[in-house]
Amino acid sequence: MKVLVTGGLGFIGSHTVVELQKEGYQVVIIDNLSNSSIEVLDGIVAITGKKPIFEQLDLRDKTKVQGFFKQHQDIKGVIHFAASKAVGESVKKPLLYYENNINTLVYVLQELEKLEIANFIFSSSCTVYGQAEKMPITESAPVQKAESPYGNTKQIGEEIIQDTCKINPKVQAIALRYFNPIGAHQSVKIGELPIGVPQNLIPYITQTAGGIREQLSVFGDDYPTPDGTCIRDYIHVVDVAIAHVIALQRLLATKNEINFEVFNLGTGTGSSVLEVIESFERVSGEKLNYKIVARREGDVISAFADTQKANKYLGWKTELTLDDAMLSAWKWQQSLNKD
Ligand SMILES: NC(=O)c1ccc[n+]([C@@H]2O[C@H](COP(=O)([O-])OP(=O)(O)OC[C@H]3O[C@@H](n4cnc5c(N)ncnc54)[C@H](O)[C@@H]3O)[C@@H](O)[C@H]2O)c1
Repeated sequence: MKVLVTGGLGFIGSHTVVELQKEGYQVVIIDNLSNSSIEVLDGIVAITGKKPIFEQLDLRDKTKVQGFFKQHQDIKGVIHFAASKAVGESVKKPLLYYENNINTLVYVLQELEKLEIANFIFSSSCTVYGQAEKMPITESAPVQKAESPYGNTKQIGEEIIQDTCKINPKVQAIALRYFNPIGAHQSVKIGELPIGVPQNLIPYITQTAGGIREQLSVFGDDYPTPDGTCIRDYIHVVDVAIAHVIALQRLLATKNEINFEVFNLGTGTGSSVLEVIESFERVSGEKLNYKIVARREGDVISAFADTQKANKYLGWKTELTLDDAMLSAWKWQQSLNKD
């Protein structure tokens, strides 16, 4: 069974390709390598022993997208990861983000509608909740006005899919709202490849410990949380990847209750920045050089998922711990340092 994974050489996409191949799916990847490297393909092959079909293609090129789908009319599902994801950059270059995250989604959906079987999984984000009033956050928590153009593209993206599903019952879609995916594959063959200065906590930690960055800044220790630092729900990327396979299987088996469903992907547990640092120091045996600095604008205080809906309807729950994720991220960083 053929499945298209857009952005399949990226961080979450590559881990999902591995899990799809393990389950016997024939995977076709589209990626323009704007935030990934062709070597990721070798990593996937090293883990699974199978080479996915790879098309280096920019999804902003509508004609090429149309040409691709004409050639692959037997696709039975699309998992759409391709997008730009740096929140800070999106504030500086909003039109780039709207073009890359919205146009590409529309072009893919336009072609998906023409297929006989139109199953679609979308990478959404917990950013749609903003600072939710109640913890843990359920899927019915109100979507808040987005703080950044990036966050807005996820909200608009969900609306575009929902509107499409409303008028076209053939389209079956699931939006997965990720909390904070981290870690790397246990084989240490694939992981996160941040280009430039990392925007996320975990690569910043591992790069600091690995000697690439001098010091980690912890933004604020005066938040109303037990240790004063911000709380997030860090989820191992392999658990996230497995959830995609299960969500796709739900659509393929027509087990979905409506043709646009939304699920949180998180562990259900919040960890503070200082707890993450402690976990890193425990599993790596390294002492991290960090300092507390002023709060950063735009950070929500706390966000962690209520996972009951995903547990019940997808029959999925996370298997890996924060320590597992931190150890894999550290091993991955060490393998990059060797190159
Ligand atoms: N990583 C996170 O913390 C996180 C959290 C919530 C949601 N998401 C969403 O999950 C998805 C995957 O995230 P990721 O962390 O794996 O990001 P990533 O940048 O590692 O992967 C995205 C991939 O898409 C490719 N791509 C981007 N624009 C493209 C285009 N126009 N045509 C073809 N390929 C294109 C990039 O080269 C990259 O390989 C994104 O949609 C992101 O917004 C990520």
